[in-house]
Amino acid sequence: MAEFKEISPNASAGARLLNWVDNRFPASKLYKEHLSEYYAPKNFNFWYFFGSLALLVLVIQIVTGIFLVMNYKPDAAVAFASVEYIMRDVPWGWLIRYMHSTGASAFFIVVYLHMFRGLLYGSYRKPRELVWIFGCAIFLCLMAEAFMGYLLPWGQMSYWGAQVIVNLFSAIPFVGPDLALLIRGDYVVSDATLNRFFSFHVIAVPLVLLGLVVAHIIALHEVGSNNPDGVEIKGPNAPKDAKGHPLDGIPFHPYYTVHDILGVSVFLMVFSAIIFFAPTFGGYFLEYNNFIPADPFKTPNHIAPVWYFTPFYSMLRAITSEMMYALMACVVGAGLFAAFKSKLSGFLKAVAVVACAAVIAMMLSIDAKFWGVVVMGGAVVILFFLPWLDHAPVKSIRYRPDWQKYLYAVFVVVFAVLGYLGVQPPSEIGGRVSQVGTLFYFGFFLLMPWWSQIGTFKPVPDRITFEAH
Ligand code: HEM
Repeated sequence: MAEFKEISPNASAGARLLNWVDNRFPASKLYKEHLSEYYAPKNFNFWYFFGSLALLVLVIQIVTGIFLVMNYKPDAAVAFASVEYIMRDVPWGWLIRYMHSTGASAFFIVVYLHMFRGLLYGSYRKPRELVWIFGCAIFLCLMAEAFMGYLLPWGQMSYWGAQVIVNLFSAIPFVGPDLALLIRGDYVVSDATLNRFFSFHVIAVPLVLLGLVVAHIIALHEVGSNNPDGVEIKGPNAPKDAKGHPLDGIPFHPYYTVHDILGVSVFLMVFSAIIFFAPTFGGYFLEYNNFIPADPFKTPNHIAPVWYFTPFYSMLRAITSEMMYALMACVVGAGLFAAFKSKLSGFLKAVAVVACAAVIAMMLSIDAKFWGVVVMGGAVVILFFLPWLDHAPVKSIRYRPDWQKYLYAVFVVVFAVLGYLGVQPPSEIGGRVSQVGTLFYFGFFLLMPWWSQIGTFKPVPDRITFEAH
């Protein structure tokens, strides 16, 4: 137990109250550790706005969600009408609903930019592996949260989108059909599905999400923030002042709280502009088909998920039975590489070759649809391994060879193109481009241990580079 601190009876009422609390709960200690004495590198740039913005959007989603639940009814017979009721009759209901629907897209925009920052500056590298892993788990939860939330308005896209995605699970060998049945609670998407998705969307997943966000920030504050130079400001050799505070750091509060207000202001301007002037955002944030009530007897011509899922959806659609040959060629290539080139022992080489043969046999015997699901899931799972895939001698993109910068740019373009194609109806050329994009996406990560070491790296400075504005 911490020592009980006495305070002068002449102290102000506020100081005495704080002392009373501090003797029972570490309020001041937490405030110091995480804000006023949390030293963050002083060279944070534009890319460092998105963590605090993600927190802001999380709060917006929770608060608007609480108000939506007051009038929403998770019943297939009235769900659609209850949303219309919120939009037309509940005072300010339209605003709350548009804040929540726009917030969903905003969340993904902010989180994608936040993740890209991690990629740019190698923020996933030692000692921040767990910060990254908690982040990836957050991303998975966010996807589950958005997917289940989308069923709730019970429009045509809600219904058919859920139908398509839940059916994918039935492609898993042996357990698939039962698993899909368990998720739906029925043989088709129905009232039972709506009820369980509602329950997960409003309580189960947000609870996990909040826990993960807390873990994410605790892990970050344990090791300290990275920065655009990728230089450690708190390491044993980093310069410190007489009190042991890093010379290249500044207290998070007030410096970065004020700095983040700028990001929050700009974000809120854009966010409000969308809510007030383009809440459907041309059918990207709220799909037009979702203004039609769900009809289990009428499949829409074109079913597409919301934009933030479409890069992964494109990868799913890219895996045709023809594409399986390309994938098998990649597995054979990897097997041959392991057998002839790598530094593995003879026994491990043999194991690698046998494993590749087993994978080929499995690929031949199971439907392409299943492999599409594996590729789609693998595209997210692979992110968890990033800390161990990057073997570059430096963290930040600033000190990598120029060609790696172009490679990152191509990665962004490929991801955006996959996203675009996922919104479009399937086409021959689109399918081919998605296939190339999928191979590039996986090649980028799987070959990273090799390419990340190649080229001339620039010397990393001992101190961060910083110019006062
Ligand atoms: C609800 C979603 C999320 C919230 C609220 C959140 C919050 C934050 C905050 C407040 C920070 C510190 C400020 C900053 O560096 O920008 C941070 C840092 C970080 N986040 Fe997240 N985050 C989320 C999702 C993610 C995801 C999905 C990933 C990656 C997969 C991720 C990876 C990281 C990394 C690597 C850092 C350290 C960055 C550095 O020090 O350079 N986060 N996060």
